[in-house]
Formats: sequence, structure tokens, C-alpha cells
Amino acid sequence: MAFDPIAARAQFPSLAVADKGVRRIYLDNPAGTQVPLSVVQRMSDCLLHGNANLGGFFRTSDLAAEFVDDARAASADFLNASSVDEIIFGQNMTTLTLHLSRSIGRHLNAGDEIVLSNMDHDANIAPWLLLARDHGLNVRWLKFNTESFEFDTDALDKALTERTKLVCVGGASNMTGTLNDLKGLCTKIRAAGAWSFVDVVQSAPHVLVDVQDIGCDFLACSAYKFFGPHQSMLWGRRDILQQLEPYKVRPAPEELPWRFEAGTQSHEGIAGIGAAIDYFADIGGTAGAGGDRRQRLVTAFGRLFAYEKLLAGQLIAGLQAIPGITVQGITDRNALDRRVPTVSFTHARKHPDTIAKALAERNIFVWSGHNYAVEPAKALGIYDTGGVVRIGAVHYNTVAEIDETLAAIEAIPG
Ligand SMILES: Cc1ncc(COP(=O)(O)O)c(C=O)c1O
Repeated sequence: MAFDPIAARAQFPSLAVADKGVRRIYLDNPAGTQVPLSVVQRMSDCLLHGNANLGGFFRTSDLAAEFVDDARAASADFLNASSVDEIIFGQNMTTLTLHLSRSIGRHLNAGDEIVLSNMDHDANIAPWLLLARDHGLNVRWLKFNTESFEFDTDALDKALTERTKLVCVGGASNMTGTLNDLKGLCTKIRAAGAWSFVDVVQSAPHVLVDVQDIGCDFLACSAYKFFGPHQSMLWGRRDILQQLEPYKVRPAPEELPWRFEAGTQSHEGIAGIGAAIDYFADIGGTAGAGGDRRQRLVTAFGRLFAYEKLLAGQLIAGLQAIPGITVQGITDRNALDRRVPTVSFTHARKHPDTIAKALAERNIFVWSGHNYAVEPAKALGIYDTGGVVRIGAVHYNTVAEIDETLAAIEAIPG
């Protein structure tokens, strides 16, 4: 069964909003997506019926725990974690990464090496640079090929040494859209005796995560990028999470996952993560009509990826046909499986902000700049020239929206 974008769009109230009679086109999705009504309802149910701290002897506390437990079970299905105890909730990926990095740092010694990828968002770079500074670690770089926008097959082999203790890589670049072969990378990382920390914030809205298949040690993602609220989760391999010393207050539980969940959580946000995952699962089949949630997620992502590939292909071809534009990412029509529909471009004469502002005047929302992809922008030589214009489609975007956006870009004078 093919994916039906019109039926999906009907679930997102914000997609129907107009400003002074002008429709909105949301192509700012790599920075954050819109939410379906089911997510808002679950969050509001949590606030209206289960608004209490966890661990009390009373009804609202029990209900709050139910919302959180349900979301943790949904998250374990979403990541294919072997246990709900491996799911740690937190405010955002950056905060979770900074938090965990302190615990990881206690296992590293001066002179140890860590490998960072120059394809990554700064949230998977800066925490580790700070850790390296504090513990006297040496940093080696896994560099992408700026012509293919991918890692060469031997790039990681060149970066790994006997002293490598940790490698941090991303699922997909938030600038070029390149999807990485996480399984291939993590197999090599494990063979080298190092831990892997994977940032799937950009790939999670498009490609279903499977931590067991990837073979990583830690992984983080953010629900506001996949139709949920501003809330994130960190997955860690159970035996490693148990070895690590959490930075926590003394009365907080010693057990997983709570030992890594610092302070009071946003229960409504966590409830919203569960609802966002159920939203995906419903695309793969109705609950109760056969197939467990993980199976329905697999089906859903298969349908969504095929549709998004269509949008990406059309967007890239359209941009390439506009004089002056260079797409900063994979453009080969036969390689669209190796990218997400996050498409960035530069223009020979127009500053990225000029284009983003001109589109905003037509109520078309896109981002410009480096979008915290500091290292990729530097590698591509566009850090000092304003970065890129980034157009990011998701499954609720339509072919008509892409066409309208392309026409609007072409009509910008200069
Ligand atoms: C690839 C990637 N990693 C990490 C982040 C940071 O996520 P958060 O805002 O949840 O800290 C982003 C945000 O745009 C991102 O695109």
C-alpha cells in the first residue's frame, strides 16, 4: 500500500493555517517538524490527568508513571532496544550528550584517542572536544569526501588506532543530507575495541533506527524532529550504562534508566514522544489489526522513505535546473537511497539569507546559515560566506509544495 500524504496532512492542524490568506509551506523540517493532533492530545491528557511527580502513593502519580512507562515502551520499539531500561529521556540531544560525556570521560585516560566526524552537527562534536580538553585526550578526525559528500570506505580505518576509545558519528548530516552506513562503521569501531556514540537526530524522521542491527553503544535522537514535542532520548547498551558512573543527586535511584535521568522530567513531553511513535506505527497499520508496533513501524518507514525519495529527487532536479545554484550534497538520482530529503544549496550570486528571506515573504519556511553544522560548512568552504539555504522535506510535504518553492526561488531577482 502506498503512503497517502493527503490523509497524513489532515492529522496536522498547523498545516492548514494561513497567514492573511496565504498558505504556509513548511520546509524548515530539519530544524523541527510540526505535530499531529494525537501528540497534542496525549500531552494534554498527561497534563490534565496525570500531572504529578513519579513515585507517590496517589492516583495522579500512578497515571504520570503510566504515561512515562508507555512512552518508554514505545521508544524501545522505535529504536529496537532489547530493554526499556536502556531508554533515557532528557531535554534535548545536546544536553543528554553533554551529560553522558562526563560519565564516559571517567573511563578515559590522558593520551587515549577519540575520533570525531567532520560531517556532524556540533552537538556530536563540541561535547567531545570539551571532554578531550578536560581529560587530555587526543582527537582524530573522520573526514568526509567533499566531492562525494560521503566517507570514503577506508576513511575510518585511517582514523582508528590502538588507542581509540570512542568514535562519534551521525546517522545523517543536517547539512548535506548524506546517510551513513552506521552498521558498517560500528562494526569497525567495535572490532577496534572502541565505543561508538551515534547521533541519529537527522536520520530518525526518515530511516527507522535499529540499535541492535547497527551495533552501536550509545545513540541519541530528538522527538521534535520526528513529529513529537521538544524532548529527546538517549539509548545506551545496558552493560555499559551499568558500568558508567552517573552524575546524579544522591536520593535519585541507582537503577537504570533513572540513574541517568537528572532531576524532574517533562512527563508531558515524554508522553508526546510515545504519541509521535504511535503516529508512525499507525502509518504502518492499525493497532490491533495484526503486527506488533515494531513491525508496523518497519512497514511505515518503508512507505515513507519511498515517498520522500520522490520529493528529494524532484527538489534536487529542480534546483539543479536553476542557473547559479549548486546543491551541496548527493544529487545522483540513482543514489537517493544514500541521503535524506534535507537538501542544501548555495547560489553563485545570492546570499543564503537573501533567498531564505525572499521565500519567507511568500510564506515558505526554510533555513539559511550553517545550522550548527560548523565542521561540514568549514570543510565545504562555505562557513564564512553564509552557509547554505536548507530545504528539508518530510512526508507531509507535497509535490505541489516543492514545485511552488522551486518557482519562488527562480523568481528571486538578481
Ligand atoms: C544532526 C543533529 N544533531 C544534533 C542536533 C541537536 O539536537 P537538540 O536540539 O535536540 O540538542 C541537531 C539539531 O538540529 C541535529 O540536526
